[in-house]
Amino acid sequence: MAFLGTGYLGTTYAICFAELGYEVIGFDVDIDKIARLADGEVPFHEPGLDELLKRNLAAGRLRFCTNLAETADFGDVHFICVGTPQRVDGMGADLSHIEAVVTGLARHLTRKALIVGKSTVPVGTAEWVEQLVGKHAPAELGVEVAWSPEFLQEGFAVEDVLRPNRIVVGVNSEWASRMHYAAHKGVLDLAATEDRELPVVVTDFATAELVKVAANAFLATKVSFINAMAEVCEVAGGDVTQLARALGYDPRIGNRFLQAGVGFGGGCLPKDIRAFQARAQELGAGEALRFLHEVDLINQRRRTRVLQLAADLLACRSGPAGPDLSGTRIAVLGATFKPNSDDVRDAPALAVAALLAKAGAYVHVYDPQGMHNARRAQPDLTYAPTMTDVVRDADLVCVLTEWADFRNADPHALGTLVTNRRIIDGRNCLDPTLWIQAGWEYRGMGRP
Ligand SMILES: NC(=O)c1ccc[n+]([C@@H]2O[C@H](COP(=O)([O-])OP(=O)(O)OC[C@H]3O[C@@H](n4cnc5c(N)ncnc54)[C@H](O)[C@@H]3O)[C@@H](O)[C@H]2O)c1
Repeated sequence: MAFLGTGYLGTTYAICFAELGYEVIGFDVDIDKIARLADGEVPFHEPGLDELLKRNLAAGRLRFCTNLAETADFGDVHFICVGTPQRVDGMGADLSHIEAVVTGLARHLTRKALIVGKSTVPVGTAEWVEQLVGKHAPAELGVEVAWSPEFLQEGFAVEDVLRPNRIVVGVNSEWASRMHYAAHKGVLDLAATEDRELPVVVTDFATAELVKVAANAFLATKVSFINAMAEVCEVAGGDVTQLARALGYDPRIGNRFLQAGVGFGGGCLPKDIRAFQARAQELGAGEALRFLHEVDLINQRRRTRVLQLAADLLACRSGPAGPDLSGTRIAVLGATFKPNSDDVRDAPALAVAALLAKAGAYVHVYDPQGMHNARRAQPDLTYAPTMTDVVRDADLVCVLTEWADFRNADPHALGTLVTNRRIIDGRNCLDPTLWIQAGWEYRGMGRP
């Protein structure tokens, strides 16, 4: 089988499916990325993936290339894993990578094959891809299309691919359904061996596409819900962490994705809820998703909340352009959108660091895995090589990604390095008692 687009999604899939015993090829237009993968180096941080890559390259089940004809010739099933970023001119999804890869692949196919879309796309895309294939692949081959959205979480990607909690696929024929099943037999067999239930939802194109964006809309809403409660706690004197804990005991609500903080980010949730709204609007159902606009606004407001807290702690004045943090030194702990990843796409941590710098602060950033990507995304910020270096002489420390290193940091040891013991816990991941006892002025999100 072939995986086209070897980013976070495609690389993890290619490697894990080789691990399951399939013969796999990974294709990308990024020559550097393919060279690194072929060399046994995962071009991003994902726990457990390096070892699996090396093992499967050595076993000869896995290879990588930049040649579309070779890829077309190799695969019976072609998984489309290219990016679908937000359009630069609006909220909708940019489908140009999908169009390029599908058109190119279709032209090179020489036998019947199944093209399975895994990228997150607006509803209607699978049908459009089917038309593209009809136009560019020789008709007599009978190439078919399926859409199987992906739910993996960065940081847990290997586990999520090998042991997904469900498989969803939209198909138009019995043959496509059978081929898709065969392509997932390894995952299903593993579940059976481990006596795990693995539900498979076989449905139509539109429903399969919608499952993914609906799931992300729900998760984003849950995060923004608790962040909205944090806003209320801040003015009412409540503690959102205790509120969330008490809410989470209700099994209908549950405690996951119910942590107030600087909000969600990453390469999926923000762009997916925007693209979902844009598509619903095009289809005449814009009103149904108007709440997602509010979800997005709540999320953005949490980022500026850190700026306000910083101004408050540093006793800085606000001018017409907002707080003026000139002359202050701020250490930012975290750049990635979540721990155990190097992904800084739309990361709240990096966005807040940029906001603090824009307000005049001298901002130093440290992240255990995200430094390379952060430097590229925000070249104007200053970066420090270690946690010790970043906090040295700081007037304020902001924890904005909940890496274990930061959660477990020793407030006494860090206290000897800073100029002033002030800390903003943007993820509510520290124990306030410990920090306050060590002489720190502590501020969490939505806590008194
Ligand atoms: N990252 C995740 O956790 C995750 C989870 C679920 C779904 N998704 C979805 O999967 C898709 C890919 O996400 P990602 O995070 O892997 O993105 P990514 O940016 O890491 O990877 C996309 C890859 O596609 C390649 N590409 C672009 N045009 C190409 C072309 N014409 N031919 C071949 N390759 C091409 C790029 O070079 C890049 O390597 C997106 O639609 C995303 O929403 C991602």
